[in-house]
Amino acid sequence: MTTIDVLRPHAEDAFAAELAALAEQDERPRPERWRLSPWAVATYLLGGELPDGTVITPKYVGPRRIVEVAVSTLATDRALLLLGVPGTAKTWVSEHLAAAVSGDSTLLVQGTAGTSEEAVRYGWNYAELLSNGPSRAALVPSPVLRAMADGKIVRVEELTRIPADVQDSLITILSEKTLPVPELGWENQAVRGFNLIATANDRDRGVNELSSALRRRFNTVVLPLPASLDEEVEIVARRVDQLGRALELPELPGGTQEIRRVVTVFRELRDGVTADGRTKVKSPTGTLSTAEAISVVTNGLALAAHFGDGVLRARDVASGLVGAVVRDPVTDQVVWREYVEGVLRERDGWKDFYRAARELSG
Ligand SMILES: Nc1ncnc2c1ncn2[C@@H]1O[C@H](COP(=O)(O)OP(=O)(O)OP(=O)(O)O)[C@@H](O)[C@H]1O
Ligand SMILES: [Mg+2]
Repeated sequence: MTTIDVLRPHAEDAFAAELAALAEQDERPRPERWRLSPWAVATYLLGGELPDGTVITPKYVGPRRIVEVAVSTLATDRALLLLGVPGTAKTWVSEHLAAAVSGDSTLLVQGTAGTSEEAVRYGWNYAELLSNGPSRAALVPSPVLRAMADGKIVRVEELTRIPADVQDSLITILSEKTLPVPELGWENQAVRGFNLIATANDRDRGVNELSSALRRRFNTVVLPLPASLDEEVEIVARRVDQLGRALELPELPGGTQEIRRVVTVFRELRDGVTADGRTKVKSPTGTLSTAEAISVVTNGLALAAHFGDGVLRARDVASGLVGAVVRDPVTDQVVWREYVEGVLRERDGWKDFYRAARELSG
């Protein structure tokens, strides 16, 4: 399968040209088995221009220091924990870090309440086990075990959703850098270059807290919400543009204005106050993350492209917007209506937006 045909290429494929240019021009020392130097990894994430003029697009928009701390942690013997409210790019950053450091972002354990020890350690191929007994050939390595053997980065998503006893099987791996396989009288010792990036949500609190023993093995980096309206608009615009191209949606006029309005509404509801600081508003129960703003606008683009008149209009984004804001049909509906009537109604240049929002809020 070519990368052009897959719905969502891995970061290392989508940005293969940038990674290759960085690797070629990067003259700084690289830790063992790293594809790039820490400096080049940070440049890949934050964007920049190389000596030969190659432009590296920013993947993460936010404080430079956060990325520097994250990258340098990966070069130490401590693992990296990315913490933050939903939609702050934890998964996104971890995928790009793995792609830049190891050239491979696919070693992934998705944490859920049902994540078993086999997913973190190893399992067995039962056919092989029954016919030939326990052997290396019958062992089914987890992504963690494969990363240890190959000296790569493994990612653990939503660490706090994993049951505590399964989480604790990471302690030996992170502190001793080894994974014993008692059935074979063997241990798998991690090769240089191995490290682990975990993500966890601090808002939708995971069912299981991180044990303090495990937490001590991590350097924690908290990813903040975008600091300003402009920053958030830039993040949404960039991502919508990429997604739109992947979905083969045409570029429509009106996009910039609607993105700015969606992000403004999101921020005001999240912050509990209007952008000018004058009017207090109630916050709905949903998280209204940047990620949700991205999907509201992308859905709006699809609506406009297939059923609209060639311009992205307020009504194209409004239904997605209301869906994101009104999560609880009772309380959120009240909050939304108050906001529409109390804030949007009087706002200069927002008449079309107000009308579209009003139509949908019944
Ligand atoms: N600061 C940012 N810079 C660049 N992209 C961002 C930023 N914040 C959010 N995004 C975008 O938001 C989208 C969602 O991010 P992601 O899924 O990584 O969030 P998350 O923190 O893992 O959320 P969750 O807690 O729900 O898993 C990504 O497509 C990413 O491009
Ligand atoms: Mg995530």
